[in-house]
Amino acid sequence: MLITSCGKDASDAPILIKFPHVTAPATPKGRAADYFKQLVEERLAGRVVVEVYPSSQLMSDDDSLDALAFGEVQMIAISLSKLDRLTTKFQVFDLPFLFPDLETVERFQASSAGMGLLDSMSDKGLRGVAYLHNGMKQFGGPVAMHSPDDAKGLKFRVMESDVLQAQILQIGGNPQKMAFGEVYQALQTGAVDAQENTWSNIYSSKFYEVQDFLTETNHGYIGYLVTVNPDFWDSLPADIRSELDAIVLEFSSWGNEQAEMINMDSRQKIIDSGAAEVVALSPDELADWRAVMRPVWEKFEGNISAELIAAAQAARQ
Ligand code: LMR
Repeated sequence: MLITSCGKDASDAPILIKFPHVTAPATPKGRAADYFKQLVEERLAGRVVVEVYPSSQLMSDDDSLDALAFGEVQMIAISLSKLDRLTTKFQVFDLPFLFPDLETVERFQASSAGMGLLDSMSDKGLRGVAYLHNGMKQFGGPVAMHSPDDAKGLKFRVMESDVLQAQILQIGGNPQKMAFGEVYQALQTGAVDAQENTWSNIYSSKFYEVQDFLTETNHGYIGYLVTVNPDFWDSLPADIRSELDAIVLEFSSWGNEQAEMINMDSRQKIIDSGAAEVVALSPDELADWRAVMRPVWEKFEGNISAELIAAAQAARQ
């Protein structure tokens, strides 16, 4: 048995939860992750230690899926779009213009269909324990995208998602899957021309400094699955696990309450900076975007299931 200097055996060492993520600390996910750490430190002091690694400091999202399955990290909050390689069910969240706003997403996530998805990767060594919002996506590029025609021929960075790839092809663009940590440089050097992301990511990762126009389409959603390794989670002492379960619910709902405000604040800061022009669309222009992107739904209905898409639609009011 390993004896430490204070006479305790090694099993008294605190449990370590490494929580890497890719966004800046001042984003919906960054703030929520820090709040998780704060709650754990308050309630499980000396028993559990949380190390949050923001801004792709430790690893990319793609690598974090493997690291979690192998037990190298203990918690992630990965974009739902990036679960594509493990299950096609979460593709429902990427269908363009399916969710008009975060309230609709939230109703769907809380429904039995939405909650049922949390456990859809147990055979891959991953368990979803909560959903966490970022916000609605906007398009950024060298031109104002009043119509999908304006996107023709542009090279777009997309997340690692087949739906998002198809969405860009649908508007005549050239999609390139790329890790989040590489996007700024790719825009700066012209390796890609355009991208889609939330206001908070566009602001905190400074994409607006290397994009002339940001077109306010709100065409899709970025949210996260707070994910753990089931073997690790289930091996925790029962009292610690139940406290952590409670903290997960608390930090994710706290994060969800902050997300819209953080995105709106970032939007305003971008406008105030004058570095990129924020372009609003008329209802007719938006209707055009919706119609052009709609065939993507049919392409992925077989993967996702018509029932799941119907359940998401039922959340619209
Ligand atoms: C992206 O890659 O654009 C997003 O998934 C980043 C994030 O985690 O919000």
